[in-house]
Amino acid sequence: MSLENKIVLVTGGASGIGRATVDRLAADGAHVVVADTQVDLAGEVVSEVKKAGGSAEVCQLDVAKSGAADTAVNAIVAEHGRLDGAFNNAGIVGPTVKLLDIDPEEWARVLAVNLTGIFSCVQAEIRQMTQQSSGGSIVNTASICGLVALSHAAAYNSAKHGVVGLTKSAAIEYGPKKIRVNAVCPGFIDTPMLAKGAGASEGMLEQVTGTLPIRRIADASEVADVVAWLLSEQSSYITGIAMPIDGGWTAQ
Ligand SMILES: NC(=O)c1ccc[n+]([C@@H]2O[C@H](COP(=O)([O-])OP(=O)(O)OC[C@H]3O[C@@H](n4cnc5c(N)ncnc54)[C@H](O)[C@@H]3O)[C@@H](O)[C@H]2O)c1
Repeated sequence: MSLENKIVLVTGGASGIGRATVDRLAADGAHVVVADTQVDLAGEVVSEVKKAGGSAEVCQLDVAKSGAADTAVNAIVAEHGRLDGAFNNAGIVGPTVKLLDIDPEEWARVLAVNLTGIFSCVQAEIRQMTQQSSGGSIVNTASICGLVALSHAAAYNSAKHGVVGLTKSAAIEYGPKKIRVNAVCPGFIDTPMLAKGAGASEGMLEQVTGTLPIRRIADASEVADVVAWLLSEQSSYITGIAMPIDGGWTAQ
């Protein structure tokens, strides 16, 4: 799969799924802009990419900060002249309590990062991509929680369902401008976030694994493979989808 010389932005690129995707995109020939709030960690990712012969740079970005996505995209375009692809993936876990116990401030924070953050990135990216005759490809990270609801996760479920709606809206409005927009819906992926969520309670991960048709948690590289494909020309007729990467969990 070639992404040779493509300029691609990855948010949340310092850890987990984002980090695995940075590695994969760089191995496929892209120049990857690793955007994250954790700049030191993003710097380590970039150093590793360069050591492996790839091309990457760090971008300090808080997707929840108003105007920050525009600034990041403008800087990329000033340096490289265009933006070919983006993986809008930065996200946080939500409160694991019942609906009535959600603190409105926590609700607002989860929505600000996981939904409005992706909206701001998509807007900035499409604003640029509509200026390019080559268009572009955008992938947003939703979740199985964008397709079904997990209990005690109303804020996260709501944000991720919103990401699926946003993805479809962007796809139908900007398909005519050669811009494809898709979402990935990961299930249970081995990352620091999973360790903080399901992995935090004793025996929970083993219990989850037993409910997965594939009977194992995924490696982050298994999401990265799908994202790389969606960003590449090999998926040229795919837009507006929300693809589960969940070992068959939502098929049940
Ligand atoms: N791990 C899973 O099982 C799983 C399942 C479904 C969906 N997801 C989604 O995948 C995405 C990546 O999660 P992960 O598991 O790799 O988690 P992770 O915690 O390992 O990585 C998330 C990255 O996002 C960054 N980030 C957080 N807030 C940010 C902000 N405001 N601006 C910029 N960067 C920010 C973090 O610093 C971190 O580097 C998230 O959107 C998450 O909701 C994960």
